[in-house]
Amino acid sequence: MIDYSETRDRHPVAVELSQAAVSFGRGERAVAALQETSLKIAEGEFLALVGPSGCGKSTILKLASGLLQPSSGAVIVGGKEVSAKALRIGMAFQNPTLLPWLTIERNVMLPLKIVRPFRSQYRSKKNTEYRDRVHTLLADVGLQRFANHYPWQLSGGMLQRANLCRALVHEPSLLLLDEPFGALDQFTREELWATMQSLWMKRKPTVLLVTHDLKEAGFLASRICVMSARPGRIIDDSTVDFARPRTVPMTFEPEFTALNQRLRELIIDARTDVAEEA
Ligand SMILES: Nc1ncnc2c1ncn2[C@@H]1O[C@H](COP(=O)(O)OP(=O)(O)O)[C@@H](O)[C@H]1O
Ligand SMILES: [Mg+2]
Repeated sequence: MIDYSETRDRHPVAVELSQAAVSFGRGERAVAALQETSLKIAEGEFLALVGPSGCGKSTILKLASGLLQPSSGAVIVGGKEVSAKALRIGMAFQNPTLLPWLTIERNVMLPLKIVRPFRSQYRSKKNTEYRDRVHTLLADVGLQRFANHYPWQLSGGMLQRANLCRALVHEPSLLLLDEPFGALDQFTREELWATMQSLWMKRKPTVLLVTHDLKEAGFLASRICVMSARPGRIIDDSTVDFARPRTVPMTFEPEFTALNQRLRELIIDARTDVAEEA
């Protein structure tokens, strides 16, 4: 059997936040969005970040993407301090942002048209190698028959599958997911967890997933960090070593529900602390 357990020490660090803090605005109007936070994510790790609304989860994603600079501290991705230009990242958000005038195939291929080093060969490879690459991904998520459809012809779950393909097509070393399954119904969401899991098991990108679905975090992640309410900081960091591939029935087993319950209490405590201060 293949061992999919991953230790933090054995693998190189993909993302590191070192005392990174973020505040918006200046002087009296300054809003602290993220307290000094230190976090190391190993290459190939699947990290879920959970916490109450407004605690700074998306802020951490934006730091890792290089779209946002920390107000103090440092963010190091792939051994370098981040700047948006240097990184090859993939991103997916709650609403799939596919372009309505392009087919699913062309939507998924879009990063290859834009991102280095792929873009220089886009013209010569778009009907051969790049097309094959897109079709392999679409087949992995069960969308092979929909390559020539337009986004409006697909359901929400199918759109999010295509969106994940687009986030992965340029082989990003880092995949940033911000509540990507949040808008889907329960059954579709569970199907997408399985899809996401097999994409990860096959390609092993480093994943940083923001979610407030604890079951989702437990199903997908190899490690879960819990954040306190605003201004956020990480208050718990646990390894999740349930065997893979995980299945929905596993989420009803005692070990899984115990993890869920423990995380739930942490988040509830973090929320009441804030309510009492207010
Ligand atoms: N551009 C901004 N200007 C001012 N405040 C912001 C800005 N972006 C986020 N914030 C605040 O920072 C906090 C953290 O935001 P965010 O990271 O989006 O939280 P969440 O954990 O819900 O993803 C929130 O309280 C939010 O209101
Ligand atoms: Mg958010």
